[in-house]
Amino acid sequence: MARKIVVTGGKGGVGKTTVCANLGIALAKQSKRVLLMDLDIGLNNLDVVMQLEDKVVFDFVDVVEGRCRPSQAFIQDRDEPTLYVMPSCHLAKRQISAEQVRKVVTRLEDNFDFILFDCPAGIDSGFRRAVSCADEAIVVVTPHLSSVRDADKTVGELVGNVIVNVVVNRVRGDLVADGEMLSAFEVFSLLGQTALGVLPEDDDVNCNARSDKNVPFDILAENLIYGKCKIYDCVTPYKGLFGRIRRKLKRNA
Ligand SMILES: Nc1ncnc2c1ncn2[C@@H]1O[C@H](COP(=O)(O)OP(=O)(O)OP(=O)(O)O)[C@@H](O)[C@H]1O
Ligand SMILES: [Mg+2]
Repeated sequence: MARKIVVTGGKGGVGKTTVCANLGIALAKQSKRVLLMDLDIGLNNLDVVMQLEDKVVFDFVDVVEGRCRPSQAFIQDRDEPTLYVMPSCHLAKRQISAEQVRKVVTRLEDNFDFILFDCPAGIDSGFRRAVSCADEAIVVVTPHLSSVRDADKTVGELVGNVIVNVVVNRVRGDLVADGEMLSAFEVFSLLGQTALGVLPEDDDVNCNARSDKNVPFDILAENLIYGKCKIYDCVTPYKGLFGRIRRKLKRNA
């Protein structure tokens, strides 16, 4: 039976869809059978980030409303044969209940090792619908106070309902080394939840996990599969004499 994990975070734009997509690829590279379900209904982002938008025939709402079987709505990834995406409805917002989503998930869970739900921003009905299908949550947070505050509210809604893990995204090692950005460890400690991973700020993040070796996402996938807590180190390269030079170069880039 699949591990069902909601990727959430409270604040908009912190990287929930990016983490969902890249983690899905990294898990599939480890031969796991993975389904990414876009539960940000009305805003289809996941199929776009996965570059599968042109393959969408049916979507999640078609499945819920009985116009097709779940397998007809799956889109197989271009590169990873064990990775599938269930796109969300990309037309208008539709009223879909948590119960309807759970029924679809129950029909699918024996066919996958992991089902990741891409969650909308906020903690209202769309969030609750996504959380109600999951046993575990990944809270994506950036090292900015506004994001940490929203993530903290999200954690408050999750604790007691699902297992909570935290991923700190968009860490800039140069700014952390200069004391101008919260470190990932400070964020973990402020949220008081299990650390699952750290991801650096990276302009190529959207196509990154597809490369043969994408260390931060590979570490994240291994932590999730094996219950490890290895943390990608974004800061050490910016420490010491050479680190100071790297910091200067990064600032001037
Ligand atoms: N580690 C990163 N480095 C650089 N850019 C990133 C990183 N993570 C995410 N981004 C960028 O941030 C933007 C927002 O990411 P994404 O869409 O994944 O956020 P989201 O939390 O799903 O947003 P929403 O709340 O709107 O669903 C995208 O342009 C994405 O490429
Ligand atoms: Mg998103």
